[in-house]
Amino acid sequence: MKLGLGCGALGDARLDERQAAALVDAALRVGVKVFDTARSYGESEGRLGRFLHQRAVTISTKGGYGVEPVREWTGAAITAGIERARHELGVDRLGLFHLHSCPLEVLQRPDLLEALESAKRQGLVERIGYAGDGAALEWAVECGRFDAFEASWSVFDQANGPVLLRAKAQGKFVLAKRPLGGAPWRGLPSDAAGAEYLRRMQAMAIDVAMPWEELAARFAAHAPEVDVILVGTTRAENLERIALAVEKGPLPAGLDGLIRAAFRREGTKWTAQI
Ligand SMILES: NC(=O)c1ccc[n+]([C@@H]2O[C@H](COP(=O)([O-])OP(=O)(O)OC[C@H]3O[C@@H](n4cnc5c(N)ncnc54)[C@H](OP(=O)(O)O)[C@@H]3O)[C@@H](O)[C@H]2O)c1
Repeated sequence: MKLGLGCGALGDARLDERQAAALVDAALRVGVKVFDTARSYGESEGRLGRFLHQRAVTISTKGGYGVEPVREWTGAAITAGIERARHELGVDRLGLFHLHSCPLEVLQRPDLLEALESAKRQGLVERIGYAGDGAALEWAVECGRFDAFEASWSVFDQANGPVLLRAKAQGKFVLAKRPLGGAPWRGLPSDAAGAEYLRRMQAMAIDVAMPWEELAARFAAHAPEVDVILVGTTRAENLERIALAVEKGPLPAGLDGLIRAAFRREGTKWTAQI
């Protein structure tokens, strides 16, 4: 199944416990097997722990910070973050733990990777990953020590494409964050990345002969660059529509090529949004 649930919104104030549970149920109903969360997503980890207890799914989480009083972005913070996430998610072994978007100079600190690898050797984490973009992602892929990567990938954010293809060629697991580009066709960007994607959508001027949500979902999900897309939503019906779109399969080759050419036309100035 190419569709995963981005659980950034699962822990925010817009969803109460019942609504959050209904969203996770809807995801399970449409066949979602990957749920993506993080230390910084509020109630998200705790809710996934309660709703997905004993389910045969992969929960991907992230850290490096937020385990006071341990100093963030140290080996000790990784070890404590993994312990904390195991407790929140109610599992002995985490499916996937990423360093959460730290910059290159932090990523290169030897104690972080050593702490991750030690947790993997002890069986506390199945796969270790880096969630991030650009130069840090390049370094993470080239160092060969990570099992998985989570990076921006969508119609409106293709800059990570070459490095993601290299990761895939090494047999790594690749998750696409922001796969709809925050749905800019709605004209309601909720953050700076969303506003940037809206500008890009206007500049790319793609003549769409299908609903935007279908185009965006099929492009992102079936790209050779990624294994699974992490769609962020607060609404079960939106997730269900994305699932139906993904099931339709890849876009016709001509349309896929047109989308890639429209992005390339803008050269290198459109960098990946973190
Ligand atoms: N640094 C990092 O590690 C990082 C950064 C960003 C994101 N992420 C991961 O990626 C996930 C997704 O990111 P994201 O939420 O920013 O981007 P996204 O999935 O590209 O876009 C989410 C937006 O699309 C809307 N949407 C979803 N389905 C729709 C549909 N069928 N029709 C119209 N609009 C639809 C959602 O609104 P509704 O709620 O109204 O559906 C939401 O506003 C996050 O939850 C997180 O897991 C990781």
